[in-house]
This record gives sequence, C-alpha cells and structure tokens, in this order.
Amino acid sequence: MSEKIQSIRGMNDLLPEESGLWQKVEQILRSSLNGYGYQEIRMPIVEKTDLFKRSIGEVTDIVEKEMYTFEDRNGDNLTLRPEGTAGCVRAVIENGLLRGQAQRLWYTGPMFRHERPQRGRYRQFHQFGVEVFGLEGPDVDAELIAISARIWKQLGIKEVTLQLNTLGSTDSRALYREKLVAYFKQHLDQLDEDSLRRLESNPLRILDSKNSDMAALIAAAPVLEDSLDEADRAHFEQLKASLDQMGISYEINPRLVRGLDYYGRTVFEWVTTLLGAQGTICAGGRYDGLVDQIGGKATPAVGFAMGLERLVELMKEQDDFEYAAAPDAYLVLAGEQAATAGLALAEQLRSALPELQLVTNLGGGSFKAQFKRADRSAARFALVVGDDELEQGTMTVKDLKGELEQQTLSIQGVVDLLSSYN
Ligand code: HAM
Repeated sequence: MSEKIQSIRGMNDLLPEESGLWQKVEQILRSSLNGYGYQEIRMPIVEKTDLFKRSIGEVTDIVEKEMYTFEDRNGDNLTLRPEGTAGCVRAVIENGLLRGQAQRLWYTGPMFRHERPQRGRYRQFHQFGVEVFGLEGPDVDAELIAISARIWKQLGIKEVTLQLNTLGSTDSRALYREKLVAYFKQHLDQLDEDSLRRLESNPLRILDSKNSDMAALIAAAPVLEDSLDEADRAHFEQLKASLDQMGISYEINPRLVRGLDYYGRTVFEWVTTLLGAQGTICAGGRYDGLVDQIGGKATPAVGFAMGLERLVELMKEQDDFEYAAAPDAYLVLAGEQAATAGLALAEQLRSALPELQLVTNLGGGSFKAQFKRADRSAARFALVVGDDELEQGTMTVKDLKGELEQQTLSIQGVVDLLSSYN
C-alpha cells in the first residue's frame, strides 16, 4: 500500500453524519434572507491580492499574516479569499450594480485564513454573509441586526448577546486617532513590538491587542465616543432606538473595533460564552468608504458575516438541541423477483411523494441482513416487498419505532400512510 495522503491542517471534511444539519442551517439562512428581499450573489474564491490589501488594510492580522497568497502560472499575485466583503464590493462595481439603485445581497462559501487552528477557528471555514449597498440610514443597520436575531430564533440559538459600537465617520476617527497616538506616545515603554509598529500606521488596532501586559494601558486610553460628531451620534441613537422598539437587547462595547480596516460608524458582534475563546458567531458593520476605495462611485454600505462552523457548534451546545438525519423509509426486497421489481416500486413511491426520503435496499442480502440495514439507516418505516406482496400489489409496513401495528397495504395505502408522516 502507498503512503496515505492527509488533509491540510485546519481544513476539514464535512462528513455525512454532519452534512444534513449543515444543509438544514443553510436552508434556514437562505430562506430568511430571501424572505427579506435579499438576493444571492456568487463571487470567485480567488481574487487579486491587491483587492484584499486595499480593502481589509495593509496593517491587519489578515493581510500581514493570514492570507493564502500565491503567484499563478502567469505570474499574477492572487489570494484565496479570507472573507467575502472585498470580493462582493469588487463584483458590484465591476458589474454596474450600483447605478442608481440599492442592492441587498447575500453569499455563502469557504474562506481561508492561515490562523492557528483550535476549536471554532479553522484555516478553511465557511461564512454566510450579507451586504447592503446604497442606503446610508441607520434603518438598514437595524434591519441587518433584526435579520440575525430572527435567524438565532430559527436555529434555536439562545445564548448569544449583541455587542454594539460606533467608530464614527472618517473625520471623527482622524481626530480620535490623533488623541490616541498622543496618549500611546506618552507610554512608549509599555507598548509591545506589534503595537509600536502600529502606532503610526494603524493605532486603533492597538486597542484590539490580546497582550495582557497592555490591558491596563488600553483600558485607560481615550475612548472614541468623545470624538464623535453630531451626525455620527444621531446615526447611532436612531439605530439604538430601532433596536429598542424591536425588543432586541444589546451591550454597548466601546472597545469593539473589529479586525478589518474598512469599518466606520456602526460595528457589531454577536458573541457567546459557550464556545471557548472563539465566541463570535457573527460580525459586521458599516463601511461607507470602501466602494470608493476600490474604485467605484462613493456608495454607503453595511453588512455582516456569520461563521457557519461556529453556528453549528453553538446549536449543538443548546440544551434542547435535537437533530437526527434519517430517511422516512427503507425498502426491503425479499427474494429475487422483488429485487428486480424493487427499483420500479421505489420510483412509483417517489413520483407520488416528491419529498419522500426513501432508501432502497441494493445489493441483495438475506431478509435479516436487510432489516439490520434498515435499522442502521434509522428510517422510521421498513417497507417489505416479498413474493406475496409482489403478486398482490401490496407492501408490508413495519414501524421501526414500534408505535404502529405491522400492516399490509396497497401501494396507495402506503403512499397515504407515508404522507401523513412526512
Ligand atoms: P470577520 O469578523 O473577520 O468579518 O469574520 C466574520 C465571522 O467569520 C466571525 O465572526 C467568525 O464567526 C467567522 N470566522 C472568522 N475567521 C474564522 C476562522 N478562522 N475559523 C472559523 N470561523 C471564522 C468579516 O469577515 C467581514 N467580511 C464581515 C462583514 C461583512 N462586514 C461587513 N460585511
């Protein structure tokens, strides 16, 4: 035997026992967004590296340390997307979607970051993202948060809280930046290497530092709130009022700055304590300056992305979580004649019940062996066809949960029974 080839660290297979649950989650997300009038957009997984540098920011962890960047055979510098917003902005500009109209969009798919893998943090992970272009008011920010709150309900997620902050407009942030640089310059001896480097290029990111030696210094730093202008404040106040009216509670977290540079005004994260260190299941905010920065006509924009691995993990952590992927029925074919007729019978049932999940016994086997497989499939019913049934045009229905008596029914009878359980 040759040596086994293994998967890449931090990049996981999604196995059949899990994929049903993922499909269910994805279906809930899709139908929720479609229900609010948002439309799907699909972008390539690979983009030019410059797109991410210019949007996410040169001095961010993602761009400095985490991107999967390579030269292709033409010598073009390309990157596996670490997130979806940059590509979405590129796509709406390039395809002329911003001309005189708002766009409400969603996307889903794999993203790639070379981070240290741990629970809830992977090198290939999946996001479900939502982006709105062309609307500047806080009503959009509020709707996006309402959408996410509704999705938690539909997924049965209870233990999650909303953290909210405003980063202000570009002008307010410039003012704040000056104050922050002045403050940190008074304490240069307490800054670590990363922070010293960021002092000039991106001082706000120092606030995001995980270095516990700097926690006290950061806690005493000036807060952005004091630098906000009137319009920033009004935007934030209206957002909070909308959330209050919808009964969505939130915590204001003045230290919430996010790891990507394109944000201004509203930023938010939904966090849970049930997943250990990687507790943010959804994050986003406003990025009114980005479209212009990527070469489009200045257009306000706001969005968020959920991490699907974390969502699924969190669903499983809920006390009342219940999920079992199981077909409705397993067709047992006893005898040679039945084995031949079985596929046609199965097709007949599928035509009558398009939603039916039916596993047909393939590859023969004794009656006993087939029943074992039916049990293992976790199907609710075993449908047995032997010589007698074949002759009479019937099936014997055995309830594998043991609630109903075994009965022999006409094909129509079987259809009626299954449809009442479907
Ligand atoms: P982000 O905070 O970098 O924002 O990622 C959003 C979510 O993706 C995180 O909250 C987390 O649930 C998930 N996530 C991120 N990295 C990983 C990882 N290594 N493993 C597993 N899950 C991960 C963005 O990506 C922005 N594009 C969000 C956005 C959209 N803002 C505006 N529009």
